[in-house]
Amino acid sequence: MHFQLKPIARSLVVAGAMAFALAASPGFAAQNPCGAKPAASKAGANPCAAKNPCAAKNPCAAKNPCAAGDKVDPKLVTRPKGYKPYKADHATLIKEGKALWNDTRLSSNGLSCNTCHTGNAAFAPSFAKPYPHPVAMAKEKGGVKQVHLDEMVQFCMVVPMAAKPLGWESRELAALTAYTAEVQKKFKPNPCAAKNPCSAKNPCAAKK
Ligand code: HEC
Repeated sequence: MHFQLKPIARSLVVAGAMAFALAASPGFAAQNPCGAKPAASKAGANPCAAKNPCAAKNPCAAKNPCAAGDKVDPKLVTRPKGYKPYKADHATLIKEGKALWNDTRLSSNGLSCNTCHTGNAAFAPSFAKPYPHPVAMAKEKGGVKQVHLDEMVQFCMVVPMAAKPLGWESRELAALTAYTAEVQKKFKPNPCAAKNPCSAKNPCAAKK
């Protein structure tokens, strides 16, 4: 009696193992678009891993400024009646808005808009659509169905920046809105974002 497998049986075992490997790896990659946990070889094969801002450093996850879970009074973040946005030379507003975008003094937690949005990070595909449009954060935190761009600026002021909204008719809001509109022009939704489990787990987007 001997334990060596007959040649036919051995090739069946090998074929079975290969079929398993082939079947397992694509599924594995699909479930792991972040590529955080799996072995380096598998993460390397994943095209989303490099572009995923969560994989490197997610400022939301790190400081978790949105995890407070408090609802936002929609009155704070929706345009007041008779609202007349501040008007000034557009190019000047964009220039001033860029400075504000990088200014941590706008927040109460040391963050600037740019902390989260460097290289278009943290934006969902909705940002590519013309305003007004629905945004998950606005709906979940304020029950607001759709937002204008200046209202979204105010949402990020109140929620992730943990600050007071800017004055509705202030030069600052007009400037930050003008600059954010420039950012939007260069934004292309990341095809991986929808499949990204980090965005689903993002405390800023979480329900409550
Ligand atoms: C702590 C991280 C954080 C900071 C700081 C932050 N944001 Fe955001 N922002 C987010 C997240 C997360 C989203 C995605 C919300 C969603 O899609 O539900 C977002 C979305 C947006 C959007 C796009 C909404 C859309 O139309 O899809 C705009 C515009 C925006 N932020 C502007 C700003 C501005 C302006 C500032 C600074 C005043 C700022 N953000 C600061 C996390 C942040």
